[in-house]
Amino acid sequence: VKSSTPDESGFTPERGKTYEVTIHSLSHGGSGVGRLEGFVFFVPYSAPGDVLEVEVTAFKKNYVQARIVRIIKASEQRQTPHCPVFGQCGGCQWQHVIYEEQLRQKELMVQHALSRIGREENIEIKPIKGSPSEFYYRNRAQFRTQGSKVGFYKRNSHELIDFEKCYIVESAINEELVKIKSEVARHDPSTQNKIEVFLSETSVHRSMNQAHSEETGFSQVNSKQNERMVDYVMGLVGKSDLKQPQYLLDLFCGNGNFSLPALMGQHFNVYGIDASRPAIAVAREQAQNKPHGLTAQFVAGDCSFEVKKLARAGRKFSTILLDPPRVGCDSRLWKNLVALEAETIIYISCDPSTFSRDWARLKGVSEDRYKIEFVQPFDMFPQTFHVELVAKITRSPEKS
Ligand SMILES: C[S@@+](CC[C@H](N)C(=O)[O-])C[C@H]1O[C@@H](n2cnc3c(N)ncnc32)[C@H](O)[C@@H]1O
Repeated sequence: VKSSTPDESGFTPERGKTYEVTIHSLSHGGSGVGRLEGFVFFVPYSAPGDVLEVEVTAFKKNYVQARIVRIIKASEQRQTPHCPVFGQCGGCQWQHVIYEEQLRQKELMVQHALSRIGREENIEIKPIKGSPSEFYYRNRAQFRTQGSKVGFYKRNSHELIDFEKCYIVESAINEELVKIKSEVARHDPSTQNKIEVFLSETSVHRSMNQAHSEETGFSQVNSKQNERMVDYVMGLVGKSDLKQPQYLLDLFCGNGNFSLPALMGQHFNVYGIDASRPAIAVAREQAQNKPHGLTAQFVAGDCSFEVKKLARAGRKFSTILLDPPRVGCDSRLWKNLVALEAETIIYISCDPSTFSRDWARLKGVSEDRYKIEFVQPFDMFPQTFHVELVAKITRSPEKS
């Protein structure tokens, strides 16, 4: 969302004062966005179409933060949040917005990032693929306990919000929460713990005071939507030929979420790189029963550094997948990545802003040799502002 400079009327909103604002969109971070006399207002828990009386809570140079004092006219995009602690817990930001509108706003967020940061106005953004479940989709949760209370910490605080169930975790996790509640019922008030509950295909697990991801590396939180996204990416990757298999490089491969299906089902020779040793160990283990004649190599290391080594060794790959964390890729990656001469690059991103910045870098380094065919957003995280996307990038045959 573009911040704008104050207009010439000299109007300046003041902290503590109230104003009438109409909300027109939702932003990264979750707040609704409105505009008054050239000032951008960010209003948490508002919906596009709301007419609100808001109080300014913080004043920045070009925008203000404000809270809802009164809903003058409620948007048609509003719904009653399911969760009784919505607004206090901070885990989700959009339960008060109907799901279709959440999806529409996520598409707009992708479009805005591409135009504002990537300077791209004409890229095809396909209609977002909604999650199979709007609620009860997360396969893990990290609960906090304090005495007999169990819940999540309020956003940016250590205040524990106690609840009976969480509306975005899978029901097996809520069943586990009931057990945890009965176990801590007699704990003295000073006892504090962090309990991560996570689901594998067959059972429910717990990890006390240690994040599960530290032991096994990253894994996707919305299992059903992840299956769809992997299938979609495999469709883009296409089939290789067992007699003359092509080479696929999977950067930020984690435990092989994409490279294993590319190896097993699509018959590529795969080369995966990830910084997490436990994740690489899982990928190696899973690749052991690969089809005869294919190679699978998984390297624990930094992507930029490892890609530099591949480029220096003159290695070539027909397809490159990239699925970096929210911060995106290191700026030093692109020059070496271009030297690998991939015909197709598939960038999977959980942050449209860093994706757009990275795209601008790739475009620059490759001297416009690559172009985005299209971007397919996915909703992995209903009820929150987070949006995932898959971009298909191809190389033109000849340098123009
Ligand atoms: C969004 S996850 C994607 C994992 C995997 N592709 C998947 O779908 O499950 C990002 C991954 O990047 C890895 N990572 C973060 N920084 C890295 C770096 N500089 N070099 C290599 N891997 C890195 C993390 O360990 C994590 O597994």
